[in-house]
Amino acid sequence: MTFDIAEHFRDDLPEAPGQWQSSPEFSFVGGHNDPANIPFSGLSEALVNVLRREGQNLAFYNLGGSPLGYEPLREFVISQLGARAGMTGGPDQVLMVSGSLQALDLVNEAMLSAGDTVLIEQATYGGMLSRLNRLGVTYVGIELDDGGIDLGHLRSMLEDLASQGVSPKYLYTIPTVQNPTGSVMPLERRRALLDLAREYSLPIFEDECYADLTWGCERPPSLRALDGDGGQVIYCGSFSKSVAPSLRLGYVIADDHVIRQLLALKTDAGTGSLEQLALAEYCPSNFESHVERLTDALKTKSDAMVDAVRSEFGPDVTVEAPMGGIYVWLTFPEGTDTASFSSAAASAGIEFNPGAEWSTDPGWGKRRLRLCFGAHSVEDIRAGVAALATVYGEHLGGS
Ligand SMILES: Cc1ncc(COP(=O)(O)O)c(C=O)c1O
Repeated sequence: MTFDIAEHFRDDLPEAPGQWQSSPEFSFVGGHNDPANIPFSGLSEALVNVLRREGQNLAFYNLGGSPLGYEPLREFVISQLGARAGMTGGPDQVLMVSGSLQALDLVNEAMLSAGDTVLIEQATYGGMLSRLNRLGVTYVGIELDDGGIDLGHLRSMLEDLASQGVSPKYLYTIPTVQNPTGSVMPLERRRALLDLAREYSLPIFEDECYADLTWGCERPPSLRALDGDGGQVIYCGSFSKSVAPSLRLGYVIADDHVIRQLLALKTDAGTGSLEQLALAEYCPSNFESHVERLTDALKTKSDAMVDAVRSEFGPDVTVEAPMGGIYVWLTFPEGTDTASFSSAAASAGIEFNPGAEWSTDPGWGKRRLRLCFGAHSVEDIRAGVAALATVYGEHLGGS
């Protein structure tokens, strides 16, 4: 090489990843689905049908339609997915995005500048924490209990920040099947949260990535639904967990003027059309039954993982059964650092997410870890958890 173009890159870039490696046998990281639960034959039939009917529109950016996304899909999102969360509205309140990660980026770009402060659940989606770090935004962690955000703690943080003259730009929350804890915020707490947010003029960014996959409770209305015409909540959702992550399809639901402002920031000339066409054709008559089957399968896996953790690790390691989704969140005894046995686990073919990366305060998170059960069979879940418990036991023996 005579010239290294990378020397001319900006000097504030994130670290480049190493060579891609295939996943180990027991990969409990990330948010993968199970190949057995992907409705690929229904999707392929839908795609063929819709392409025969409308395929010539691939000639145009956005299929020749609205840059907000394919209208029949936006119609499905608001009238059926929105209705599942108690929301009303029309397709102009929906922006289709390339995975809900793009929703996080667009909302962050619209609302945040370096030096701003946001409020966020003390255990939360690592992909949001890494984004906030990159933006130079300060985040304040709010304590959680088994019903989600502790409103007493939220109020005291709001008071504290107000006394320093700081107005947080938003509260980011995952109220329905919290990632990573798996809790669902009860209805009364949602109402009280909105009251508090109104008292402090605090915008809410609600992420309902897992909300279609609930069990063990009735799904409460979303914060956006409860806010009505209040204008306080931007909502995002995703097809990644309910159908397939590789589709890269998510959506934002917000008031029209907010959607249009986000659209002005979405400079990718439109989210992929083939996946929008396929889902718009597949979902209206198949989504409900597909999600019912998927949820049953996930509950079986969740029960298997919770049982395996309890029996393999014993009483020193605690786990709450999640109320939906694809993760369990384990808490180890005081003084444990779960990252310290992640390389021993990797050598045994096991990957997990150390809790520090999923926590606003790494010191609080380091005795925790997250396991994803979504992609594995019950047999692999049992075998993988047993193997992880062996690694942990050896780590304890050696430390
Ligand atoms: C809470 C939360 N939000 C957003 C995302 C991003 O998902 P996607 O971009 O696949 O829709 C994830 C992925 O795991 C997540 O857990």
